[in-house]
Amino acid sequence: MSGPGVTAPARPVDLSVRLGDLELANPVMPASGCFGPELAELVPVHRLGAVVTKTVFAQARPGNRAHRLGESAHGMLNSVGIPSRGVHGFARTDLPAYQRLGAPVIVSVGGLSEGEYWRVTEELAGTEHAAIEVNVSCPNLERGGVTLGSDVGAVRRVVAGVVARTDVPVLVKLSPDLATIDAAARAAQEAGAAAVTVCNSFPGLAVAPETRRATLGNGTGGLSGPAIKPLALRLVWQAAQAVTIPVVGCGGIATAHDVAEFLVAGASAVQIGTATFARPFVMTEIVRELPALAARLGVTRLTDLVGTLSF
Ligand SMILES: Cc1cc2nc3c(=O)[nH]c(=O)nc-3n(C[C@H](O)[C@H](O)[C@H](O)COP(=O)(O)O)c2cc1C
Repeated sequence: MSGPGVTAPARPVDLSVRLGDLELANPVMPASGCFGPELAELVPVHRLGAVVTKTVFAQARPGNRAHRLGESAHGMLNSVGIPSRGVHGFARTDLPAYQRLGAPVIVSVGGLSEGEYWRVTEELAGTEHAAIEVNVSCPNLERGGVTLGSDVGAVRRVVAGVVARTDVPVLVKLSPDLATIDAAARAAQEAGAAAVTVCNSFPGLAVAPETRRATLGNGTGGLSGPAIKPLALRLVWQAAQAVTIPVVGCGGIATAHDVAEFLVAGASAVQIGTATFARPFVMTEIVRELPALAARLGVTRLTDLVGTLSF
């Protein structure tokens, strides 16, 4: 037995996964912006496959005005707008704190222009990190973000420029707000990405009819949580058909069973965001439950589930 209600499988289960040259002990990591080093006292973060930092920009930025968070049925809407210390402050203060967590660190890189992604990557070159995740999909930025991510040519240029400026594997976090995710995923692969992360939050709107105003200070926001899980699953499945590099699934994951759904749909690893706000332990609980779930599903290597979906 490995804990209450969790029966250890008869044979050991291999949870390891490869994303390009990045070898992870298991496929579970936090989604960018949803988990900080301050939670290390509560959560045994070293048991996660990796940690993903909040998105870092070249310059400090304050984020969007209040209100930044709103509830929605089976999900939440946010327009945080990614406050950032800027890459210098990040490298000096935040990155060492992430490194002390004891899991491989994936740095999320943002930009309001193509060149900003490259500048941030260059500034990171002298620092310790296991991989970069290029965020071309934030719905809450004044420029860049989802606008850039919906332009396949821009995705290709940004990713190629980042790949040329770093020695670590590059993941590319794609926008769900695309006519087809296939072309963006292929562009990322052709530009040298080691994996694509599918997907960021979905652009959404909350309205207060009494005031005739949008509920969020920024107007629109990003919808996340269980409400988006079926949408994200479909995008993961589509992206996995389009590329040969691994897909990292993200969107509404809250249980080990959700993780298995994403793996069967084509994801090799997963990220968990909104679920960690209510239950910071959820990621390490899932890691603990995965071996028993894999055994119940008849596999001794978790990767044997990847892309096994049939209709
Ligand atoms: C409060 C909040 C802040 C976020 N900040 C970032 C961020 O800095 N960079 C990023 O790529 N995604 C960010 N996201 C998106 C998440 O990483 C994730 O892609 C999205 O929430 C969907 O996953 P989930 O349903 O598990 O939350 C944020 C989401 C939330 C709710």
